[in-house]
Amino acid sequence: MTYARILATGSALPERVVTNADLEKIVDTSDEWIRTRTGIRERRIAAEGETTGDLALRAAQQALQDAGVKPSDLDMVVLGTTTPDLVFPATACLVQDRLGANGCMAFDVNAACSGFMYALGVANNFIRTGQVRRALVIGAETLTRMVDWSERESCVLFGDGAGAVVLEASDEPGIIATCLHADGGYKDLLYNPVGVSVGFTDEKNHGVRICMRGREVFKVAVKTLDALVDETLQAAHMHADQIDWLIPHQANLRIIEATAKRLGMSMDQVIVTVDKHANTSSGSVPLALDAAVRSGRVKRGQHLLLEAFGGGFTWASAMVRY
Ligand code: ACO
Repeated sequence: MTYARILATGSALPERVVTNADLEKIVDTSDEWIRTRTGIRERRIAAEGETTGDLALRAAQQALQDAGVKPSDLDMVVLGTTTPDLVFPATACLVQDRLGANGCMAFDVNAACSGFMYALGVANNFIRTGQVRRALVIGAETLTRMVDWSERESCVLFGDGAGAVVLEASDEPGIIATCLHADGGYKDLLYNPVGVSVGFTDEKNHGVRICMRGREVFKVAVKTLDALVDETLQAAHMHADQIDWLIPHQANLRIIEATAKRLGMSMDQVIVTVDKHANTSSGSVPLALDAAVRSGRVKRGQHLLLEAFGGGFTWASAMVRY
């Protein structure tokens, strides 16, 4: 049996830190409201001209260097994003060229906040079937470019960043199981109303922005993630007490706590970066994974449960032996 093993991780964040106190100056909000409702204290915001591809490239370079893999050794670059540099070519192609990995397959996956988890699931299956030996999987976003800074309901929630992993075929796990789902019936709870085909302004003359029914998203997220972690344990033939670390999507600390509770895990076993990064959509899980690896908390041989939930709705998970 061939598995996909994570050789190394990488990440990149913009330099500019924006705190809750900074946001108090532009919308009617408070540090206390943001912290108690979401767990967020600050976020990073991309500089003018700094793109999703720039952040993705930096994360990828770090992961490749730590993996000891040359770009020319890659068979695949797959990048989860909802905020690509251009409509086309795919940001994965732009990053592939800047790395010098030209020739291998490269494409983007748009699954909103589950983009990295979907990309990981796709790369895992290419490796398991023997079509790919080494894959670069990236989650990268400049989601704050979509934010309407006059809407306090959403502008306090998001940040920019990227994370990456290098996968290699191995006789030993590796990625043990992945679960990927979507239900487009929930499209009205979380969406961006404009685009290439429908046009770039909506009926209210708004451009790109995040439309969200927050409380309803929250409820479906908690319920769906409960079922997802049960399904992932079953698919991996494991019990919750065998998981060393939960590495969840970083949208809201209360959603994260609910999932940990479902698993009977203490918050000491949960990687939390939402306080510093806010919700970086596809960047969130690989950023948290890289932070956990670099701080020495996640060690080789440990079992990690990765999961995400986002617009679509989409939801996805992976059980990984690191
Ligand atoms: N500052 C101060 N007050 C605010 C703010 C703000 N930034 N935003 C909303 N409020 C007000 C509302 O107007 C409302 O006022 P009202 O009671 O007078 O009507 C009040 O705060 C309470 O609003 P609720 O919607 O009840 O607050 P809730 O506890 O549900 O928290 C939140 C809102 C943080 C958006 C939460 O519902 C949430 O996190 N939902 C998930 C959404 C999410 O994470 N989306 C990201 C993408 S999907 C994903 O990644 C999971």
